[in-house]
Amino acid sequence: MNPSTDDRRGALDRSASRFAAPIGTRDLQSPETDRRRAFNARFAEMMGRAAYHEIETPMFEELGLFLRVGESTDVVTKEMYDFEDKGGRRMALRPELTAGVCRAFVQHKPTASPWKVWYSGPQFRYEAPQKGRYRQFSQVGVEAIGVEDPDLDVEVIALAADFFHVLGLRQVTLHLNTLGEVTERQAYTDALGEYLNTRRAELSERSIATLERNPLRVLDSKRPEDHAVLADAPTIQEFLSDRSRRYFDAVCAGLESLGIGFEISPRLVRGLDYYCHTTFEFAADSLSAAQNAVGGGGRYDGLVESLGGPPTPGVGFALGIDRTLLACDAEDVFVALPTPGDVFVVDLAGGQAAALCTELRRAGIAVDRTYSAEFGPEGSSPRSMKAQMRAANRAGSRLALIVGPDEVTAGVATLRDLSGGEQTTVSRADLIASVRAALGHTA
Ligand code: HAM
Repeated sequence: MNPSTDDRRGALDRSASRFAAPIGTRDLQSPETDRRRAFNARFAEMMGRAAYHEIETPMFEELGLFLRVGESTDVVTKEMYDFEDKGGRRMALRPELTAGVCRAFVQHKPTASPWKVWYSGPQFRYEAPQKGRYRQFSQVGVEAIGVEDPDLDVEVIALAADFFHVLGLRQVTLHLNTLGEVTERQAYTDALGEYLNTRRAELSERSIATLERNPLRVLDSKRPEDHAVLADAPTIQEFLSDRSRRYFDAVCAGLESLGIGFEISPRLVRGLDYYCHTTFEFAADSLSAAQNAVGGGGRYDGLVESLGGPPTPGVGFALGIDRTLLACDAEDVFVALPTPGDVFVVDLAGGQAAALCTELRRAGIAVDRTYSAEFGPEGSSPRSMKAQMRAANRAGSRLALIVGPDEVTAGVATLRDLSGGEQTTVSRADLIASVRAALGHTA
């Protein structure tokens, strides 16, 4: 990683005044954090139902692991946050999770076949930041390792498609392709490189640079200068064996039988090196083309072996949480909503709120309160009734639990419904039951 001079200058400037979140990262706050928690919970629930179990791997791994999986990709050569640790080891923040999961497979030799896992967590790529493209972003995903069966490809793709659907997204297109066996993919890459070199003069500068590293990635170019050259480029189809073709046909038929729509996109190559056979990407049509990939994945039958394990097939996907939520915003679904509390304690007697809040919270009721603005010579002093009621309304709580000096003496409290305004006096001894009844909770 080679930070630009601009970044260094930015760091110096800010250290002189105030700090901000690093370029390409964001502070996420409520209600966005609540929405993400709900997103992860829904993902965990859906994947659990399909017998995938959660895996958590480290956020950094040995640099060599990533070099092994993506030597000709931008993700690995240009965008990696690599560093030397204090023990002199070359490490890298993970740019993705498939490599770490396959490393874990080789390390722990699980007996289940396929070994089906799901994950969620942050990834790091030193990219040019813009909306939907961050240097720290989060993914959820699955990997299913050990079986080469088109049904498993279909299962994995269907899980991702269904998850988008469950979120409420309707404008997501599934692009599907095959890269064939590793040898077929290589033959195609060579032929494509040869072809592109014959028309090198017509290509954009960026594509010429990409061509040197990985001709397949030139197919990704959306630059108008490259269109004509790419239109005549050979496609992978010409290089597929019968078996690869049949495998792909079986995946397509499987998706059709489940009613999952897709477009075959012969130029779909993915940003990482390890793919063979089925590859796919989900594009959110509601987002701008440069950042509309909300998820992607495919088969990586050679990856485990390249990491020192036995020859083992595998397939998986990862969805970008940040982008998927941008797509949700664009379609106005899976909206971020604040989570209002059940009860707001309004303590006019002073010294009551702490005990009431704790009692209610221990009973599973969501409670908030105000605090004294200042700790003066007399200790904390309660805020005015008006200020506390204003805070209760701002918090969106359903009930106010009001205790003044008279109520304390009488061993009662007042419950006020903050939407309707009705008020009841309840006994302090039956407080929990009364609050539950007012909230409509069943015991
Ligand atoms: P990927 O296509 O590199 O695949 O990333 C998956 C998703 O992560 C993308 O579709 C996108 O939504 C999101 N993403 C990637 N980079 C960024 C970024 N800089 N900012 C925001 N979101 C981003 C993989 O990572 C593979 N490991 C997927 C896989 C799993 N293949 C097989 N199994």
